[in-house]
Amino acid sequence: MKISVLKENNKSETRIATTPETVKSLIRLGFEVYVEKDAGLLSGYSNKEFENSGAKISDRNECLSSKDICIVVKLPSSNDLSKMSKEMILIGCLDPYNNKSSFDLLKDYQITSMCMELMPRISRAQSMDVLSSQANLAGYRSVIDAAEHFRKAIPMMMTAAGRVNPAKVMILGVGVAGLQAIATAKRLGAVVSATDVRSATKEQVESLGGKFIMVDDKESRGAETNTGYAKEMSEEYKQKQANLIAETIAKQDIVICTALIPGKKAPVLISQEMVESMASGSVVVDLAVEAGGNCPLSKEGEVVDYKGVKIVGYANVPGRVAKDASALYAKNIFNFLSLIINKDDKKINLNWEDDIVNAVTLTHEGKLRLEQFK
Ligand code: NAI
Repeated sequence: MKISVLKENNKSETRIATTPETVKSLIRLGFEVYVEKDAGLLSGYSNKEFENSGAKISDRNECLSSKDICIVVKLPSSNDLSKMSKEMILIGCLDPYNNKSSFDLLKDYQITSMCMELMPRISRAQSMDVLSSQANLAGYRSVIDAAEHFRKAIPMMMTAAGRVNPAKVMILGVGVAGLQAIATAKRLGAVVSATDVRSATKEQVESLGGKFIMVDDKESRGAETNTGYAKEMSEEYKQKQANLIAETIAKQDIVICTALIPGKKAPVLISQEMVESMASGSVVVDLAVEAGGNCPLSKEGEVVDYKGVKIVGYANVPGRVAKDASALYAKNIFNFLSLIINKDDKKINLNWEDDIVNAVTLTHEGKLRLEQFK
């Protein structure tokens, strides 16, 4: 089977869906691998490295036509989709919540589109879980970005010239990104606190040495869905949570926002008044900015200076650690391909009885399969 790897056509996308190391594994699995010229440059992988690992460097049109599988980070443009060979299997983070306008093309061209971000959060799928692999790096990078904009040191330092107090860092939302942000801030020597609506996160925060605070009431005990995600909370809960955050935030030097609700706008957790209560020189990093933001003052792709408080709204934060992000993403895709390839005849075999295949396949044989997007 022939697999092609596209160069991402979105300028802010620095990652690639495979690496020279994964190319070798794909070849061992039975694939011929075609990598679009210069596809790895922004993530630090050269054409030569891909060639040395056995890939053929090709132009875009060649990658789009007469291949069996195409792997990407983000959904290619409509123009690209219309050039794809009929019955192509397209695998990537296709963002079906925001790309509904492409569904007709995917159906018309009989493309089997598989969305890696819809991977179920079950043990068997952990090695294919792109949301986790990328969020983990985003959580790490958010603290590094905060440190860059913070004009003070993070750890406590006792020096002959006096004491430097440790920075106070607060993390809003303790999923994969939030947990890594806590761990990174702790490693840098910060005093860390965190909050979430899911009470299950208390133990995780404390095991990393953070202080956990939350509005603990009847509603929060049912805040976690059976898939492990947070529910959208009631207005009454939101008000109680806002009071709690307002009390705490004024004393913080750095706030990292990571709160998300799948398929919905991110919850607003930090109001303009709360930002005004923070000391000048404090930093807010809004990792949720692409989903609308946890702070209404954050702007996608920008660092806003609001009355001396820096509000960092970088988009595609995993792409700011592009080499590692690509390597983990490529492994996730490889593990998924290993699941769907038949080891005997080296052909793709989609087993619809498999929860993973069922959950990620958006379009197949000209039909939109997933109820939640109909
Ligand atoms: P996410 O990216 O959807 O959300 C980030 C965090 O924001 C979550 O902890 C969520 O509870 C929190 N949040 C949402 N609304 C909030 C609000 N109003 N105030 C404060 N916090 C709020 O979450 P992520 O990182 O994708 O994790 C989702 C779930 O999946 C978790 O239960 C996690 O443990 C689980 N998981 C399971 C894996 C597995 O393979 N078994 C792998 C990775 C995650």
